[in-house]
Amino acid sequence: MKVLIVGGGGREHALAWKIAQSPKLKKLYSVPGNVGMAELGECVKLNPTDVEEIAEFAEKQNIDFVVVGPEAPLAAGIADALIKRKILVFGPKRRAAEIESSKAFARRLMKKHNIPGPNAEIFATYQAAKAYITEAKMPLVIKVDGLASGKGAFVCFDREEANDVLEQIMREHSFGDAGNRVVVEEYLEGEEVSFFALTDGTTIMPLETVQDYKRVFDNDMGPNTGGMGSYSPVPFVTKELYEDIEKKILIPTVHAMRVEGRSYKGVLYAGLMLTKDGPKVLEFNARFGDPEMQVLVLRLKSDILELLQLCAEERLAEAKVEWGKGAAVCVVLASGGYPGKYEVGYPIKGLKDVSKMKDVVVFHAGTELKNGEIVTAGGRVLGVGAYGKDIKEAQQRAYEAVSYIKFNDMHYRSDIAEKAL
Ligand SMILES: Nc1ncnc2c1ncn2[C@@H]1O[C@H](COP(=O)(O)OP(=O)(O)O)[C@@H](O)[C@H]1O
Ligand SMILES: [Mg+2]
Repeated sequence: MKVLIVGGGGREHALAWKIAQSPKLKKLYSVPGNVGMAELGECVKLNPTDVEEIAEFAEKQNIDFVVVGPEAPLAAGIADALIKRKILVFGPKRRAAEIESSKAFARRLMKKHNIPGPNAEIFATYQAAKAYITEAKMPLVIKVDGLASGKGAFVCFDREEANDVLEQIMREHSFGDAGNRVVVEEYLEGEEVSFFALTDGTTIMPLETVQDYKRVFDNDMGPNTGGMGSYSPVPFVTKELYEDIEKKILIPTVHAMRVEGRSYKGVLYAGLMLTKDGPKVLEFNARFGDPEMQVLVLRLKSDILELLQLCAEERLAEAKVEWGKGAAVCVVLASGGYPGKYEVGYPIKGLKDVSKMKDVVVFHAGTELKNGEIVTAGGRVLGVGAYGKDIKEAQQRAYEAVSYIKFNDMHYRSDIAEKAL
C-alpha cells in the first residue's frame, strides 16, 4: 500500500513509525512530515490545510490510503475532498469533525442525547454572555467555540477573571471567528483522563487507557501546554469504569452522530473528568492525542495499518487488536519558555546514543535539519518514549534516555507517570 500521513508533529511521527512496521506498506509519504518522518518515507511540502491540493497530489501519486493526524485538515474537509476522489481516508468528514471544531455543536449534541457533561450555555453575543456570568456561580469555564490549538479554554476562579476573558474573546476578538460564540460551563472537579476509541460509525473499539500531562511544570503547576508527557495504562481506570465510559459516553455519542446524519468515522477522543458523579465529557476531539499516541503505538502489538484500514473501510468488526502487557511512558522535551516565548535553532546532542537503547524511541516534533545538524525548531521539540514491563521500568528507561539528550534551554517535567506508581 502507498500511504500518506497528514501532519508533522510527534503524534504523526508515532503513527509513521508504527505504520512503517507494517508488511502491507509499500511507500510512505508525509505532508509536511518532519525530521523523524523523513527517515521513514518521503516528505511533501504542502500545507496540511490545503485539502484540495493534498487530494490532488494523492490522486496523482496513486496513494491507497490517507491517515490524517491533526484536527485542522479534518475541520477543513480533507476527508470529504479525498472521498470525492475515491481515496480511502482515516478520519471523519467535515460535518462529523465538528464534534471537535465546534464546542457549541458538541455541547448541544450531548444535551440532546443525554451524554454526561457539565451544565453548559452557548452565547453568540457579548451582552448575553456577560449577563449570564454576572449571575453565575464561580468557578466556571469559558471556551471559544472554534479551534484554538488548545488555547481557547479558560478556567475562571472569580468574576473579574471571567469578565476579562470574555472581553478578550468577544470584544477584542483575540481568537478571530473561532470566538464568535462562547460556551460557558460548570467547573468540574476530579482526575482528568483521555479516552480513545476507533469507530467506523457502527462498531466501536476502545483503545488502551492513557493519561497526559497538560501543565508545563511538575506537580501540575504553570500554564497549559499541548502536552508535556503521557503514560499507559492508567491504573485508576478500572475495568468497571472503562465499561461505564463505553456505555454512557462512547456508544451514545457514536449513535447520536449517526442519528444527526453526521456518521462518525475515525478516532473519537473523549477528554473526561472523573467526577464523584461519574465520568463527564470535557470535550471531544476528532483525532489522536499528542503525546498520547506516542505511548499507544509503543504498546500496540497489532498491525496499525491494517487496523486503521479496516476502520476506514467500515469493517472494524473484523479487526482484532493486541496490546503489549507492559507499560509505556513518553516525556516531552520542550524549548525553555514554552508555552510562552522561546528561542529556536539550538543543536540537539545525544540522539545517536539514545538510538542504541532498547525499547526507546525518540519522536520528533519541533526539530529541523540545518547544515546536516538536527536543531530545535518549535515549542515541543522531542517526545522520548519508552516501553517496559511496568510503569516503573518504562519511566526509568524514558528518563535515562532523556539524560543523554541536550540542547540549550531544554525543559521537561520530571514527574511523568509518577502518579501511576
Ligand atoms: N468544565 C470544566 N471543568 C473543569 N476543567 C475544565 C472544564 N473544561 C475544561 N477544563 C480544563 O481545561 C482544559 C482544556 O479544555 P478543553 O475543553 O479540553 O479544551 P481544549 O483542549 O480545546 O483547550 C481541560 O483539559 C481541563 O483541564
Ligand atoms: Mg483538551
